[in-house]
Amino acid sequence: MNDTPAQSLTVRDNRTGQEYDIPITDGTIKAADLGQIKPDEDSPGLATYDPGFVNTASCRSSVTYIDGEQGILEYRGYPIEQLAENSNFLEVAYLLINGELPTKEQYDAWEHEITYHTFVHENVKSFMQGFRYDAHPMGMLMASVGALSTFYPESKLIHDDEVRHLQIIRMIAKMPTLGAWAFRHAQGKPYIYPDNELSYTANFLSMLFKMSEQKYEPDERLVRALDVLFILHADHEQNASTNAVRSVGSTQVDPYAAVSAGVGALFGPLHGGANEAVLKMLRRIEKKENIPSFIEGVKNGDERLMGFGHRVYKNYDPRAKIIKKSAEEVFEVTGTNPLLDIALELEKIALEDEYFVKRKLYPNVDFYSGLIYEAFQFPPEMFTVLFAIGRTPGWLAQWLELVEDKDQKIARPKQIYTGERGLTFTPATERWS
Ligand code: CMC
Repeated sequence: MNDTPAQSLTVRDNRTGQEYDIPITDGTIKAADLGQIKPDEDSPGLATYDPGFVNTASCRSSVTYIDGEQGILEYRGYPIEQLAENSNFLEVAYLLINGELPTKEQYDAWEHEITYHTFVHENVKSFMQGFRYDAHPMGMLMASVGALSTFYPESKLIHDDEVRHLQIIRMIAKMPTLGAWAFRHAQGKPYIYPDNELSYTANFLSMLFKMSEQKYEPDERLVRALDVLFILHADHEQNASTNAVRSVGSTQVDPYAAVSAGVGALFGPLHGGANEAVLKMLRRIEKKENIPSFIEGVKNGDERLMGFGHRVYKNYDPRAKIIKKSAEEVFEVTGTNPLLDIALELEKIALEDEYFVKRKLYPNVDFYSGLIYEAFQFPPEMFTVLFAIGRTPGWLAQWLELVEDKDQKIARPKQIYTGERGLTFTPATERWS
């Protein structure tokens, strides 16, 4: 007798009494297999209704693994804690894009290529200077990444390996330049060109903060802390911005257009914009004594505790643990941030409160990152730009996977139509007379 349970789902349609066997593969059924289930030949087949894709796998991916219940995050199989402790952002970017760790020769070539693509065309500088003085840096980043598509028209050859490789190098290399220039723009300061003698992250700090000195020499501890933050943000499987990159990329448009869509999605306060919202929230709470009334407001549904909760993690976000440690190291250099005390107390109270415990709401990556960014003297508008720079290799790794995946099609969901049908149009001249 065969004890192996059948890898299939038997569905009985009570409208017709008919039964269907639907194969189960990797814990999923193909939504298209439900299409055969119909009350009669002329009716549309059964579909699933899943706003926000809460229970729908949109792809097969070997980039990032998350176990939300256990609080596990791995890039290409390597635990995030080990990468944050022992690797650097460029090596992690190589790992995400290529699927394995580089040899010394591969790493040196990768670092060299990225370092020598950090400059952008002078016309990029000119059009960035045309933004309003108070332009949000994320808006500037979204527009300027998208605009790179016009500077590299060959990027539309997305099935050519070499062309793809070059755009990946360009994008990882140029994001810090664009991000730093968006920052300088808001401050009315001259844009600083890349310094190819510096490491990836030190060069970014130079483009942000250099003034009249010959050479900008950042504190190595701050360089390391920012590098770790980039590592922590480098990928997070099918999050909203990655889904935007994949969705736009599924039209076979060039990767600059796809990544620009990712930057747009990241801009939202429920995604990458949350750390900016956390800082504003902590400032509004102002002192520890105000925390209980703030928590009451959250529980009454007046607002959300920003930096808490996650679609996937139902445990402490592993990135938040590492960031909390990084924060302490950064504050040793910069001096402490008084908002840290409010954040720590808020976390303590929330983690003991029935409302948060029941809903498994824990601090996410954004709860402490804003405090570190503020210690670097970034204004809140820059926080999401930093997230975008870190996330770029992840978006590109996912885009590469999409382009090479034979199962993928143009992303085009179904809808349940709820509007009117077959109305008769009366011209405005008659309706308004
Ligand atoms: N504060 C208070 N209540 C919350 C919160 C929160 N931060 N997050 C979720 N809840 C409640 C929510 O009201 C709901 O309660 P009920 O069942 O009584 O209606 C329950 O928890 C489930 O929430 P949900 O909105 O259905 O969960 P979701 O998976 O759709 O949303 C989320 C995930 C991250 C959008 C949400 O937790 C949130 O808005 N958090 C605050 C914003 C934030 O910190 N975002 C950063 C996410 S991590 C970085 C990134 O990936 O971008």
